[in-house]
Amino acid sequence: MKFDETAATDHAIAKAYVSFLVERRLDDDDAARAEFCRTAQVAPKLLYNNPHVNQIASIFAKRTNMERVANMTVREYLRYHYYYVHQAYKYGIPEMQQTWLGHHIIKSPEDCWVYQELLYATKPDIVLELGLMFGGASVFLANILKLMGHGEVLGIDITFKNLKHDPRDAGNITYLEGDSGSARILDEVARRCEGKKVFVIADSDHEKEHVLKEIRLYSKFVNVGSYYVVEDSLNDLMGYHPVPNEGPLAAAKQFLTETDAFIPDLRLPEKYLMTLSPHGFLKRVK
Ligand SMILES: C[S@@+](CC[C@H](N)C(=O)[O-])C[C@H]1O[C@@H](n2cnc3c(N)ncnc32)[C@H](O)[C@@H]1O
Repeated sequence: MKFDETAATDHAIAKAYVSFLVERRLDDDDAARAEFCRTAQVAPKLLYNNPHVNQIASIFAKRTNMERVANMTVREYLRYHYYYVHQAYKYGIPEMQQTWLGHHIIKSPEDCWVYQELLYATKPDIVLELGLMFGGASVFLANILKLMGHGEVLGIDITFKNLKHDPRDAGNITYLEGDSGSARILDEVARRCEGKKVFVIADSDHEKEHVLKEIRLYSKFVNVGSYYVVEDSLNDLMGYHPVPNEGPLAAAKQFLTETDAFIPDLRLPEKYLMTLSPHGFLKRVK
């Protein structure tokens, strides 16, 4: 890699340096900086005076992760997790992205464990996943169902362009391409879910109006005792959302004013504290 120093931005250099540290499993120190500047042909002053370098130094100091996060507040930790693990594929250190058997998955490990517990407890015939992206979560869910010996994943996404695997590999996944809000997709889901026990995970567009539209359309498929999970309600609490407006949490709360068939399960699914969907695990009670 060689930078044209007249064009390279501070951000591009910082990002390249972070990738260099991650790929080589290095801490940030003078030796690492010198080696990076030599191999990437970056003038040292561009790295040492880089506005991002102090942050990089604190993250890549020779400390364990526990030492690094031990003095953080929970809020700071959540932010750290969001940018460096949960959304690592997007914010520049893809090697940090959480994976399930090699598949990129955009959930927290704690939420995955909760899904394993809830699926085992509710034993659905179909897990309806709205929003697939890379498809790693579908593989995870399908694998858990296969271990249980029952159930399949029905996944919907408006585009398959980010999918990284063939659903046939898992054996118990079916994907439908289209807008979750369209009549065509809804009719197809209704046909496939008729008479079935259904567990819904809504993780598509996180704008409040879309989340609300989906929950009004798809909550009817959930059987009593099962769940409709409004994912990423933490966006609203943390301000992660790319635009500063309401998202999944606001939609879940609005929906709960319209029905008494669902209650937010605030204890069991949130028992590991670190959930991306606080107030989002809605249990059907009638
Ligand atoms: C957050 S990602 C899904 C992540 C995945 N469930 C996981 O946990 O790894 C959101 C996905 O929703 C899809 N999406 C956005 N709007 C949609 C819509 N109206 N209908 C269906 N899918 C949509 C996007 O294409 C994207 O792939």
